[in-house]
Amino acid sequence: MKVLVIGNGGREHALAWKLSQSPEVHIVYVAPGNAGTATARKAANVAIAADNIDALLEFAQQNKVELTVVGPEVPLVAGIVDRFDAAGLRCFGPAQAAAQLEGSKAFAKAFLDRHAIPTAAYREFTELAAAVAYIETQSVPLVIKADGLAAGKGVVIAMSTAEALNAAARMLSGDAFGQAGRRIIVEEFLEGEEASFIAIVDGEHVLPLASSQDHKARDEGGTGPNTGGMGAYSPAPAVDADTHARIMRDVIKPAVAGLVSDGIYYRGFLYAGLMLGTDGRPRVLEFNCRCGDPETQPIMMRMRSDLVKLIQAALDGKLHDEELEWDKRAALGVVLTAGGYPGDYATGELIEGLGAEQPEVVVFHAGTAITPAGIKTDGGRVLCVCALGDSVSEAQARAYARIDSLNWPQMYYRRDIGHRAVARETL
Ligand code: AMP
Ligand code: GLY
Repeated sequence: MKVLVIGNGGREHALAWKLSQSPEVHIVYVAPGNAGTATARKAANVAIAADNIDALLEFAQQNKVELTVVGPEVPLVAGIVDRFDAAGLRCFGPAQAAAQLEGSKAFAKAFLDRHAIPTAAYREFTELAAAVAYIETQSVPLVIKADGLAAGKGVVIAMSTAEALNAAARMLSGDAFGQAGRRIIVEEFLEGEEASFIAIVDGEHVLPLASSQDHKARDEGGTGPNTGGMGAYSPAPAVDADTHARIMRDVIKPAVAGLVSDGIYYRGFLYAGLMLGTDGRPRVLEFNCRCGDPETQPIMMRMRSDLVKLIQAALDGKLHDEELEWDKRAALGVVLTAGGYPGDYATGELIEGLGAEQPEVVVFHAGTAITPAGIKTDGGRVLCVCALGDSVSEAQARAYARIDSLNWPQMYYRRDIGHRAVARETL
């Protein structure tokens, strides 16, 4: 079978790596991919951008691709699945109408309220005067969110009223995120511990993947600007059996039932970003219509089941026949970025130390490119070094030991990925 993975991040390398392990798969094409997917076993890159739906469709038709898996949200929200479906091609991910759960925060919040799924209290605005009047009555911290897609940058946690007013004005004027910010959500600040909960949905049935946690802040101790994620691990010790059951009962099952009752056919990965309150209640911070990056990297390292078979079952509406098997060990991934990310950063720096494969350690690529001189950096998020271990502490030690042998001039990473889980283990 020929499989196509769309995207070029660490998540897509991990998906391609896992899909290629299926005995049914002959080749995994990755569009556009990175240096990791270019050199992986049973994989090849295709020079088509992830949002060029016409060219992707043409490639899939001409090359008789039997299964397409979409990594990032942009093509999903743009309707890639609708286009592939119309052409009779199997493409895994939600259709455009269903991808609105990520594509519009106002849509997601209204959905959560309608189905009584716990989330932060909020109001929605398109006019600055009304937003100002409301913000002035609220206590801080206050959270201001652009409605549309903003590459993970559309959320401001305002610590003062002035900061909240400024964020609202910059978004509503179109200055901050263009059209995506012309509608905003102003919501209550929630305290607690964050966890990522990703499930696979077939329109009716749902199968949860292993739990995970990521670190969104760039710098150690959870400081510095918000990023797409500086590291992640699985399982998340904060999601114990009780919390897991509660998340399924209060969030995931009502969400899938709500989609069915709203007449929205949701098929694909559904990612709930959760705040676990000190009261033990999970509340939804956001939905994503795809797998998380970097959560996917440690999750794929732990998945024992055949991902191709699982996705086929989901496409056929038969997830209830499937069971997932996980490696009991923990997996932890540390993201190596270009210095300066998520702001300005250099690219084109030669990466030293790649290629020395070690058991239980995988270096997933993100912003990397092959050049005649060797593999160079080609983005802000460059690598995700993942390791398995009998505990999160062991996985963490293995990942950092591998990082010691990697280098480029402006390499940057956090040294405390997994600290919460490690602290729990050493209690
Ligand atoms: P989102 O894209 O909505 O998940 O927001 C990005 C990040 O902002 C989340 O991972 C949280 O760290 C933070 N965040 C979003 N909404 C809230 C909230 N209501 N209270 C506290 N933190 C939040
Ligand atoms: N790691 C967060 C995300 O993928 O949205």
